[in-house]
Amino acid sequence: MSYLMPALIGHRGVASEAPENTAIGLKRCKSLGIKWVELDVTQAGDGSLVMMHDETLERFGGRPERISNMDREALMKVDAGTWFSPVFAGEPLLFLEEALDLVKTLGLGLNLEIKVNPDLPVAPLVDAVVANRGLDALHNGERLVISSFDHTALARVAQQKPNWALGALYEGVTEQWAESLADFTPYSIHTDFETLTAELAAEIRAQYPLYCYTVNDPITFQRLLDMGVTGVFSDRAHAPDMRALVKAG
Ligand code: G3P
Ligand code: MG
Repeated sequence: MSYLMPALIGHRGVASEAPENTAIGLKRCKSLGIKWVELDVTQAGDGSLVMMHDETLERFGGRPERISNMDREALMKVDAGTWFSPVFAGEPLLFLEEALDLVKTLGLGLNLEIKVNPDLPVAPLVDAVVANRGLDALHNGERLVISSFDHTALARVAQQKPNWALGALYEGVTEQWAESLADFTPYSIHTDFETLTAELAAEIRAQYPLYCYTVNDPITFQRLLDMGVTGVFSDRAHAPDMRALVKAG
């Protein structure tokens, strides 16, 4: 059985080595041999699609600004590197079209996580993401999975792009996991590993590829593989102790 995504996927790029969701992180993924990356995309106040996990700049040096109050010009001035290490001072935030160009140039696969900005409506975010032609190119090359914790967002993607691979994300997966999937058919299920039981893993794996986040140690990774988990998102997807557990990818 072959799957779109490999068993080890770089979480937010290679988050243990370079600032998350940045160009330098993507380039580092390539040089470290990572094949697929997970990146977060969210929306700013002017509709810009920016590669960010959070809805504020709090982590970037404790700045209180909310992304919903910022436009592209303001976001372009943000230093997204110093908070991680002074070595990365001045690393800019990435915008979606730039990220897609770089993913394509580097020959990576992409799990794009649509991060709904709690300050803004869901539909314009989804529609703006889906309109990106770079995503069609990745989809056509079998190098794209779109995921979200917001399953209404995924249903909206499916309405417009019925053939795109969708990853239904869960935080705290339960026995009712399938109930939110009535309006679309996922390609894969993505969940935190902490709440995943062996029983649930078996039930999900009987129907879908199953991926867990965020798995950074080989003992947990091996335990999940033994449960039948297809793969994991890791901040250390390049690390020899993680890679030693998979034959390929
Ligand atoms: O997509 C997997 C994982 O990234 C989901 O959690 O908070 O790291 O975006 P988070
Ligand atoms: Mg994410």
